Amino acid sequence: MKEFKVKVSATVANLGPGFDFLGMALGIYLVASVREKEGSEIKADKEDALVSAVISLSDEKKIPLPKNISIQQDTNAIPAKSGLGSSAAARVAGVLIANKVLDLQLDSIEIVRKAAQLEGHPDNAVPAVAGGITICYNTPGGLEYEVLGPPAGLKVVIALPGLQTDTQKARKLLPDKVSVKDAVYSAARASLLVKSLVERKFNLLSEAMKDRLHQPYRKELIPGFDEIVSRSLKAGAYGTAISGSGPCVFSFAPEEAASSTGKAMVKVFNEKGIKAEYIVTDITKEGAQIIE
Ligand code: HSE
Repeated sequence: MKEFKVKVSATVANLGPGFDFLGMALGIYLVASVREKEGSEIKADKEDALVSAVISLSDEKKIPLPKNISIQQDTNAIPAKSGLGSSAAARVAGVLIANKVLDLQLDSIEIVRKAAQLEGHPDNAVPAVAGGITICYNTPGGLEYEVLGPPAGLKVVIALPGLQTDTQKARKLLPDKVSVKDAVYSAARASLLVKSLVERKFNLLSEAMKDRLHQPYRKELIPGFDEIVSRSLKAGAYGTAISGSGPCVFSFAPEEAASSTGKAMVKVFNEKGIKAEYIVTDITKEGAQIIE
C-alpha cells in the first residue's frame, strides 16, 4: 500500500440564518496519515470519530481492513466542541481513508452522503468535503449540494472562548415549531446572505446574518453574545453570528478590521470572566484532499 495523508478543513455551519443548510470551509485543518506498520491493527474506539468512520465503511461494505496499516492524526488545529466542525472533519477524513484503503470508488456525492450520515450535520460535512460556501438540501434521492466560491476581500474572524458546547444539548434548546413570521424572517435573511456573498454586497451582511430559528435560543450559552455582535460591528466587522451551535462566534470582516474585530469580541468574553482568543482565517475553496 502506498502511504498517504488526508487534509480536511474546519467548517462554520449555519452562517446565521442558514440553520442546517449553509456552511463554509476554513483554512484551519486536520491532517491524518495512513502508513504501513507491521503488526498493527485498526481497532474501534467509540471516541475516535475518524477511525470509527473507517470501520463503519469497512463493516457496511463487508470489506475487511488490511492488516499492518496504521492511521494517525498528524496535526489537528480544529478545537473540539467549539462549533468549528471538528467531528465532521474527523468523519470526512475517515470516509476518505476508507474510500482509498478499501478501494470503494465512492464519488464526491457518495462521500458527502456517507460523511453527512455519520455526522448528522450535513452543513458541516458538505463544506468539509467540497470546500467553499455550500448550500445543502435533502431530496427524495438523497442529500444534494451546491458550492459558491469564496468572495474576494472577506476575512473570517473566529472568537474562541474557553467553553465547550455539546451540539445535542444546543439543539434541545430549540423549539419544535416556529411561527410563519419567524420562518419568513429567517428565509429572507438566508436569501439576502447568499446575495451579499455572491455579489460582494458586504454592507448587507449585518442584517443578513440575523435569524430567528436558532440564535435567539442558543445565545444563552454564549455570555455577552448580543454585545459581541454590536461591538464587533463597531470595530469594523461586516456581520457576526454563532458558529454552528457555538460557543465560537464568527465575523465576516475586511482585512483591515480583522484584528480589531477579534480583539473586540475577545474583550467582551473577558469582561464576562471568560478566557478567549481569536483566529483570523479565510474561507478556503479547497475541499478535503488526499496527499500522496
Ligand atoms: N446545523 C447544526 C446545528 C450544526 O446548528 O445544530 C452543528 O455544528
